[in-house]
Amino acid sequence: MSSTVNAVVNLDLEGPVINRHVYGHFAEHLGRCIYGGFYVGEDSPIPNEGGIRLDVVEALKALDIPNLRWPGGCFADEYHWRDGIGPKEDRPVMVNTHWGGVEENNHFGTHEFMALCELLGAEPYISGNVGSGTVQEMSEWVEYLTRDGDSPAVRERKANGREEPWKVKFWGLGNETWGCGGNMSAEQYAMDARKYATYCRDYGDNKLYRIAAGASDFSYAWTETLMKQLSHLGCQRVERPLYQAVSVHYYTVAGTWEDKGAATEFTDDEYYTTMLKAARTDELLTGHANVMDLYDPTKEIGIVLDEWGTWWNVEPGTNPGFLYQQNTMRDALVASLHFDIFHRHADRLVMANIAQTVNVLQAMILTDPDSGALVLTPTYHVFRMNKGHQDAASLQVHVVGDAPAKEVGGAELSTVSVSASRKDGRLLVSLSNLDAGEAADVVIDLRGGSVTGLASEILTAGALQAHNTPEQPEAVAPRTHDGARIDGGKLHVHLPAHSFVTVAGDVA
Ligand code: AHR
Repeated sequence: MSSTVNAVVNLDLEGPVINRHVYGHFAEHLGRCIYGGFYVGEDSPIPNEGGIRLDVVEALKALDIPNLRWPGGCFADEYHWRDGIGPKEDRPVMVNTHWGGVEENNHFGTHEFMALCELLGAEPYISGNVGSGTVQEMSEWVEYLTRDGDSPAVRERKANGREEPWKVKFWGLGNETWGCGGNMSAEQYAMDARKYATYCRDYGDNKLYRIAAGASDFSYAWTETLMKQLSHLGCQRVERPLYQAVSVHYYTVAGTWEDKGAATEFTDDEYYTTMLKAARTDELLTGHANVMDLYDPTKEIGIVLDEWGTWWNVEPGTNPGFLYQQNTMRDALVASLHFDIFHRHADRLVMANIAQTVNVLQAMILTDPDSGALVLTPTYHVFRMNKGHQDAASLQVHVVGDAPAKEVGGAELSTVSVSASRKDGRLLVSLSNLDAGEAADVVIDLRGGSVTGLASEILTAGALQAHNTPEQPEAVAPRTHDGARIDGGKLHVHLPAHSFVTVAGDVA
């Protein structure tokens, strides 16, 4: 059985540009994300440059990853950046209290992170320490990184071997300050954020894009407080908003926070609950954007969803503080659904960062702790197949008539999701069939242009639980899809059950 979805796309009516930064990433000092994931040290038998794994870099370069957030997460608010500069043997050891209580030797610090970003061709997004740090400490980190000429922090940087300042645009003013980042009230943090924002200065042409630590989930009041505190407060002149964006975090958890469910063993019911939770990202972004519209109707301030993705119980036998989880076809569909939603919110959403890139939560890459073998996850493939949407003009997809839906716990889940964009004369359409067992056919009336030279790829598997391992690295891997054709100006796409498909073509 299959259902048919009819839709219209006007190829000549371009919507807001999809910021490439919504395809952003996140690397925290957590479990094996940095150590063993990105960084193995210079003496490792794994090919590396300055300790950075070259196979990981190569795999991520194929995704055109636009930015990388670091060093946390919760870790950011106990990280003191000066511990991570200078000769490695002199760097102090600390305890990573949030993540497993393990020792952190600070061998991966500021210079190593900036080198990693350079290798990846990604922009750095640094999350500063508000929870246990000071305004001065954060201010000096910005100076150390981005100031040219001469100053104490610049001399310090030069003494550590870096003559030229780096370019750093994205700067986080703390993380989850309602929780691990200080347990503050919104009012308390908002006042602090103004102070931190003031002393994180722009040096030369390095203009910071300051991101205030925002809400969890649907806590719209937090966003409202941050928006209220942006203005001049009645007694001073503020030429530029003190921060340019507010963040929000939203994880997809099928069960409860105490028992989130297993990554690879789940029922159809759990699967649909997962998809419903993921679909709520639309409601989340709409809600926060509506609040922001009240204070910023011209949409100067961006939303940064700098943590999103699935969060399952850790794999049996692994350190509970390391958040290591497998990644199945279900995770891939969570990702593809998020991207459709991101594309629809291109007017306000300036960045999103999946948590996290390697070996933690919904990762792109899993590395084997013993053999070092690298595995690309189903989620990785979604990022690769979708990369043509980066910086493309969004195209609205108008569904005509009824679309297939499932009742999930009293709510309705649309089981076919589509988004489209156009860039440099190329159309890219992404289609997800969330139905676990039934195929779907999508017919899109392409108006305002004609499309030729179709190329289509599909990501699916025999079971939703399918995943990749070092023994079976391609259990879930993209293939050429022969189920897409143009007929009479209409794009016909066949979507097998639980599949993700992209279709690209030249627009004239
Ligand atoms: O991504 C894992 C953790 O989730 C982050 O450190 C924290 O910000 C969030 O609670």
